[in-house]
Amino acid sequence: MIDQNASLNELAQSTAVIFKQKSGQIARWIAAAPGRVNLIGEHTDYNDGFVFPMALERYTVIAAAPNGTQKITLTSGITKGAATIDLSQPLQRGEPSWANYVKGVIVGFQRLGQKIPGFDAHIESTVPVGGGVSSSAALEVATATLLEAVTGKKLTPVQKGLLCQKAEHEFALMPCGIMDQFISVMGKAGHVLLLDCQSRRTKLVPMKSKAVAILVINTNVKHELTGSEYPDRRRQCEAAAQALGVKSLRRSTLAEVNAAPSKMTNLVFRRARHVVTEITRTTEAAAAFARGDWATAGELMYASHASLRGDYEVSCPELDDVVAIAHGLGRKGGVYGCRMTGGGFGGCCVALVQASKVKTIAAKIASAYKAQTKITPSLFVSRPGQGAMLLKG
Ligand code: GLA
Repeated sequence: MIDQNASLNELAQSTAVIFKQKSGQIARWIAAAPGRVNLIGEHTDYNDGFVFPMALERYTVIAAAPNGTQKITLTSGITKGAATIDLSQPLQRGEPSWANYVKGVIVGFQRLGQKIPGFDAHIESTVPVGGGVSSSAALEVATATLLEAVTGKKLTPVQKGLLCQKAEHEFALMPCGIMDQFISVMGKAGHVLLLDCQSRRTKLVPMKSKAVAILVINTNVKHELTGSEYPDRRRQCEAAAQALGVKSLRRSTLAEVNAAPSKMTNLVFRRARHVVTEITRTTEAAAAFARGDWATAGELMYASHASLRGDYEVSCPELDDVVAIAHGLGRKGGVYGCRMTGGGFGGCCVALVQASKVKTIAAKIASAYKAQTKITPSLFVSRPGQGAMLLKG
């Protein structure tokens, strides 16, 4: 039931081997960056709130070597495709779409005055694509890590996260917050990252207990909405902040929101209520994780899901099914908590479970979900992984 996963070393080695087959060259550089799962703190990053993600032990790896030209040739084992980037021209978005993430990061380095020489590169990944676990951030951050080596220009972690976020805004047209790129840069093995998106201060919360496991359940659905849902939420939050007279919803409290329903539409009111309650839940959950209080952490995860479903309206029937099944197994069945994770409308749920029961829990969730939806889910377990690194170069 639980998907097995190649280790980072195995992935790096196979990427280098495939790179050699494709380009005839030995990799000079190998860079890696992880996907992420957010334990709690959803749709809070662009409201200057707190988020609590961990890096996954699932990575995107790029192996590369100089080619002495003005072109970057890319091949990808993820899409089985190829792309050429002509460095003698100003870079623009285009096809194939996956190369846009790479282009956006190159442009970020060019803006810093860096001249990028031509190189050949091959990309492989164990981060599920399109599942809400930040495969795009992993590709951006792996690219930035590679370019640090190629150009010799070392960025600070904050600079690097922001450069990659900008690449996503400009080249994928996704107005995301800072969470995904920051955790992919700053993740630390054995730790969950409490990130204050206002001050950008971080606190690493150790998560080394063998008693619990993080189980990720991919619903394997992605609802094609108009594509405007995410920017709409951002605008609704801005409208709420404006009505409350604050710069961002981080600066407001639940009492203030509750006192102000007449200042905004009911929809905007509910969006604001989600954000302010979620920010509080996130710091409470981080404290619960830190003291190993799994019951409290789990309850906060369920409450987060209810708020995302009811007030923020970013869940979907399949995510709700997974959470209901997990809740049905209950603490007796070894489940402390479960919620949707990431932007929503499909993708993954994350569950905090008793480690000794994780296999049984995974099997039960998978079969109940399949029975209800006729869709086969994918499930995997991950400890907190390591942020971006240069493995060779
Ligand atoms: C997406 C965005 C993040 C964040 C989440 C919701 O993953 O990329 O910045 O806003 O949605 O928490």
